[in-house]
Amino acid sequence: VDHGVGQRQCGVEELLDAVRLLGAAGDDPRAAAAAVRAAAAELAELRGFKARTEREMEELCQTISAFAALEYDRRAPVVEGSDDITNAMAIGLNMMGEELSHSVGALVAARDAALAASRAKSSFLANISHELRTPLNAIIGYAELLREDLVEAEQEGLTLDLDRLMIAARHLLALIEDILDLARIEAGRVEVRPARVDLPTLLSELAATLDPSVRAAGNRLHTRIALARPWLWTDPLRLQQILLNILGNANKFTSRGDITLSTGEVEEDGRAFVIVAVADTGIGIPADKLEAVFDAFTQVDNTSTRRYGGTGLGLTISRRLCEMLGGTISVESECGRGSVFRVKLPRVDPPA
Ligand SMILES: Nc1ncnc2c1ncn2[C@@H]1O[C@H](COP(=O)(O)OP(=O)(O)OP(=O)(O)O)[C@@H](O)[C@H]1O
Ligand SMILES: [Mg+2]
Repeated sequence: VDHGVGQRQCGVEELLDAVRLLGAAGDDPRAAAAAVRAAAAELAELRGFKARTEREMEELCQTISAFAALEYDRRAPVVEGSDDITNAMAIGLNMMGEELSHSVGALVAARDAALAASRAKSSFLANISHELRTPLNAIIGYAELLREDLVEAEQEGLTLDLDRLMIAARHLLALIEDILDLARIEAGRVEVRPARVDLPTLLSELAATLDPSVRAAGNRLHTRIALARPWLWTDPLRLQQILLNILGNANKFTSRGDITLSTGEVEEDGRAFVIVAVADTGIGIPADKLEAVFDAFTQVDNTSTRRYGGTGLGLTISRRLCEMLGGTISVESECGRGSVFRVKLPRVDPPA
């Protein structure tokens, strides 16, 4: 614009000259008329220039806005009659657009390649699940047989090593199951199979299943289940898996404390939800780790001397499963006082 104004400086000076001439014309009407005509012509020229410049600037601004909206194929017009600087800016913008669309194209290709690689990895893992599990199950099975043989042969003293072998093999199997579960979820191979679920029954059965390990850890498990409508339309196996993970964690990270399994109902934006909460009085989670615990392989204590076993996949899997059921999972916790994990599931009507 400055350049354009500079270019037009002579136009302004000519206009001033014309005005001066008008002043000097005095009583000479012809000289005055000529000066007024010259001034008017210059003025019209300047107005035209102003309007053109505004239009060109407007077009350049639109191109810049289009870039900001990721439309890099938009071209700024280069017009022969336009100001040189405007055209130079348009050419510069067009070159920038081309560069950007190349870079974006390369980024999109890289993202697609990464996604394809990740899918290939997940689907490979999902495919070899059988291959990994079969030999491990055979190891566990034969160890059990051997153990029985030893007991029969009254060689109980020799079973200790076999017990260790079985514990390690079961641990490995659980780990493989978790990794494969996550791979299947990521490869989109996990199907949700909803059914009519009687929630209080499902929860009491879970509590009964867990009771021995809760007692073994010196904890107490309380259930507070009260629902106006006990039925839920959801996938019972997936719901069990989610709750087993959370209850297992509550028991693992609590010693000689209380674990409470409770239910609630809420309505948000006219939609009804059921909440299943697991509260414990265990070690709690530091505030800055509250979200990270849902990331794969992430544990609050990741030192080599950590006290609690596990892989750091339980909550990742639980959150993904919850989302597949249309729900969410959240946590509140205070270090040294305990944690509350809440699973919130929508009440959906069964298909007619
Ligand atoms: N109830 C809880 N109290 C305290 N910390 C918890 C609790 N639940 C989870 N955490 C923290 O979150 C981390 C991640 O939990 P997650 O269930 O994903 O993994 P994990 O229990 O360590 O291993 P995995 O479940 O794979 O066997 C845990 O290692 C622990 O640090
Ligand atoms: Mg866990």
